[in-house]
Amino acid sequence: MSYQQELDASKNNPEGFWREKSKALEWFKSPQKVLTQDEEGIHHWFADGEMNTAYMALDHHVENGRADQPALIYDSPVTETKKTYSYRELRDEVAQTAGMLKKLGVEKGDRVIVYMPMIPQAAVAMLACARIGAIHSVVFGGFAAPELAVRIDDASPKVILSASCGVEIKRIIQYKPLIDEAIKLAKHTPQNVVVYQRPQAVAELSQDGDLDWLEVVSSAQPVECTSVKGSDLLYILYTSGTTGKPKGVVRENGGHAVAMKYSMEAIYDIKPGEVFWSASDVGWVVGHSYIVYAPLLQGCTTVFFEGKPIMTPDAGAFWRVISEYKVKALFAAPTAFRAIKKEDPKGDFIKQYDLSSLETLFAAGERLDPPTYEWLNEQFKLPVIDHWWQTETGWAISANMRGIEKMPIKPGSSTVPVPGFDIHILDDNGQEVAANQQGNIAIKLPLPPSCLTTVWGDMSRFKASYLETFPGYYVSGDGGYIDDDSYLFVMGRTDDVINVSGHRLSTGEMEEVIATHPAVAECAVIGRRDDLKGQMPLGFAILKSGVETDQADIKQALVQLMRDKIGAVACYKDTVIVERLPKTRSGKILRKTLRQLVDGEDYVIPSTIDDPAILDEIHQIL
Ligand code: COA
Ligand code: AMP
Repeated sequence: MSYQQELDASKNNPEGFWREKSKALEWFKSPQKVLTQDEEGIHHWFADGEMNTAYMALDHHVENGRADQPALIYDSPVTETKKTYSYRELRDEVAQTAGMLKKLGVEKGDRVIVYMPMIPQAAVAMLACARIGAIHSVVFGGFAAPELAVRIDDASPKVILSASCGVEIKRIIQYKPLIDEAIKLAKHTPQNVVVYQRPQAVAELSQDGDLDWLEVVSSAQPVECTSVKGSDLLYILYTSGTTGKPKGVVRENGGHAVAMKYSMEAIYDIKPGEVFWSASDVGWVVGHSYIVYAPLLQGCTTVFFEGKPIMTPDAGAFWRVISEYKVKALFAAPTAFRAIKKEDPKGDFIKQYDLSSLETLFAAGERLDPPTYEWLNEQFKLPVIDHWWQTETGWAISANMRGIEKMPIKPGSSTVPVPGFDIHILDDNGQEVAANQQGNIAIKLPLPPSCLTTVWGDMSRFKASYLETFPGYYVSGDGGYIDDDSYLFVMGRTDDVINVSGHRLSTGEMEEVIATHPAVAECAVIGRRDDLKGQMPLGFAILKSGVETDQADIKQALVQLMRDKIGAVACYKDTVIVERLPKTRSGKILRKTLRQLVDGEDYVIPSTIDDPAILDEIHQIL
């Protein structure tokens, strides 16, 4: 079947199309209703199907000939550890850990926060929740205590699963003190904090409810899979929006499993038994979907890598892993490839390894910039595929559907809509624009399986953030255009979200942090273009009159404040102290103009600007 035929089938008969795809999975009871709408008008896929995601991902394979096949390969250059789990071993460990959760009183629908580094127990924790129908919420290890506290209050978890530490290139991050601080800050108190002790830094378990993971799990009984409905939630994953409060994106079991399974074959061209590696972190959506769920649902071997593209120990780390485990496809963020390119521009490390197993490179998380694309293309002479997606969707919205039809690659484009996503480019009034014209990227409803169905506990925020801007459409927050060949070019966010090292961050949230400094009267944060990380935050601050503190001290204090409140992952390093900020006559800060000025782009002075001279003032300071 050609891509066009597949796309047409998805548009002409969406329910028939997805019913057919759902048959690739082992349901306890097949869904009768494929697409339904609830009283809020929100669409759900496979709502009445009965299933268990962990069963589909593990038990089904154990029972069907894959018991001894490697399911997960843990490779940790930072701790010099390697370990392979077969499907049977992973299933057994998940069943036992699910038993531990049950013993702690965790029931179907309860929330469990997973705050862990890239160790296999993180995947085990997620799958153990899935096994008993509990809802996991993984929090990225690079976030600071206040970020964790916000998530604890929003998700109100019964239990937090964690590890004693994470191992970064230059330092060990002790998790337990961060959790203790977060619980102090939060209003909600989880019943237990279960800590997996790592030898690199053993945690002190002295608070009420603290438990040692291995101790509790060793006395637990393995449990069977709990049957859940297709529309029951598998997880909540918090992502940055335009305000300080992150949005809890929810994912339903049924649609998620179907989309994951379909995508492995249709997008990544990966068959059961093959080795797939997504070099991300379980704290991000890419890690949820393509380190844990999709490869396992497809019966593949997934690589679980605790390291970085460079410095663990060198820029050959990725190529070593590919050659050692015969990886067929690698999925990484462009920033990781840029970091490697910077260290090893001539590809000397690449030449040291046998990479004959590698067939395709995939990139997402930010736009794959043409220079990085060209470098990869030149080094590997393999297809390098950019594909665009978001936490909200859980999988690619546009891609080159390698398993359906290997379409020509256009550098800078994420190719064409994935079947199920009806992509339109709209102007600010909601009118469709012509080919090659930039606008807001919107997706006509209903969204396909796996996409969010609400923001956890906040339906009105869900509607206001995504559905009300253009009635009948989901608004992505990204801008871009479609060319004459129907190829999509995603050019960047149209809101206050920035992308640093492929990590999604909110400038609004950073502004809220800067504003808490006693010397700051007003501020703005923008994303400045960065050759390595894609974007880096840059703050502008107006000081209160009479402040006599040295400006260098204030700037340094703001760096520390950002690390303490959001985390090192914010990469906040620079503040420009200004007298005034460019604003509209109604007082709105012109952040886009500021960003264009900083990036040296041509810009039109907005007609609404209060005083254009401010732009010259800032130009002088920069
Ligand atoms: N736990 C704790 N801290 C973390 C962390 C984690 N899981 N991940 C990152 N950090 C910290 C880093 O140690 C660093 O701290 P520092 O300022 O004290 O040095 C800070 O957050 C910034 O990290 P990062 O932006 O990742 O920069 P880096 O200089 O450590 O590494 C790269 C640069 C390019 C190698 C790295 O950014 C990378 O591998 N990027 C790929 C990211 C990715 O896969 N994103 C995909 C998301 S879908
Ligand atoms: P996240 O929700 O963390 O996955 O971040 C999603 C955002 O990252 C999108 O809204 C885009 O702004 C950006 N993004 C992800 N993949 C791409 C891509 N291939 N091209 C352009 N932008 C991308």
